[in-house]
Amino acid sequence: MKTTSVLRLLLAGLAATLTTLATAADKPLKIGFAQTGAESDWRTANSESMKSEAARRGIDLKFSDGQGKQENQIRAVRSFITQGVDAIVIAPIVETGWDPVLREAKRAKIPVILTDRSIQTSDESLFACFIGSDFYEEGRMAADWLAKKVDGKGTIVELQGTPGSAPANERRKAFAEGIAKYPGLKIIDSQSGNFELSGGKQVMEAFIKKHGRNFNIVYAHNDSMALGAAQAMDEAGLKPGKDILIVSIDAMRAAVQAVAAGRINCTVECNPLFGPKVYDTVVKILAGETVPKKSYNKDELIDETNAAKLLPTRQY
Ligand code: AHR
Repeated sequence: MKTTSVLRLLLAGLAATLTTLATAADKPLKIGFAQTGAESDWRTANSESMKSEAARRGIDLKFSDGQGKQENQIRAVRSFITQGVDAIVIAPIVETGWDPVLREAKRAKIPVILTDRSIQTSDESLFACFIGSDFYEEGRMAADWLAKKVDGKGTIVELQGTPGSAPANERRKAFAEGIAKYPGLKIIDSQSGNFELSGGKQVMEAFIKKHGRNFNIVYAHNDSMALGAAQAMDEAGLKPGKDILIVSIDAMRAAVQAVAAGRINCTVECNPLFGPKVYDTVVKILAGETVPKKSYNKDELIDETNAAKLLPTRQY
């Protein structure tokens, strides 16, 4: 073959490669997000953060609402793999049972980012990283605040989150360990309200029926349940925040308002606005950069001393 023909072939090959690269660079990132559901105001704010930040960055987000079921989330992940997304983000509803589908994603060479809730796995290489809050620390902060507030004495009922979920498991464990140092603090009952307002209300109605006035503290694993419990107290003629002290987690605007109004006594922050951090991390992973395996938000505690001051700047 003549030198000119060889050169022409090489140039044609180079042009084709450059076109492919340009097309790849212009193509929007395709990301699948398997959300747990829409159980709480926190979850709504979290979904909104993921959706609005994707729209702002021109990301093609495939959003799936798991409607509170792990099998729906697993199905969504499989469909993301089939669609050939660039990355998969999961907010795992429960901690266990993820390894098989994560192995499928790994085989397809699609990085998986866990957000909000962590998982239990025997192989940490099955996910690229975790971005969330330290649920154990939140439960510990709630317990320490309470012990100080009531001088280590009181009778507690607990409203648990979704059974098997990381926030329910860790907030429960940390709180129990935190109050164990105070023999005068006792949990007399503990039931799941599934992180839902209606669940918190129903369980509180049952607690009031069963225990009457024989408790003076409610520890709720999230604000939606705390607000539901406060409604149940209203209906039973009890004053939330006064007759019964309420300690909660999330620090959603409605709960911070309730703290300022004296209906809830304390809420530990759990920031749901993960969109920007998740997408920054996806971009780094796809560019081959190393990212921290686990990163946590720094959350603060809100009570009567700072609620009113924080309200005007509350983003969620
Ligand atoms: O996983 C985070 C928890 O889930 C939030 O505390 C709760 O409100 C949500 O439903």
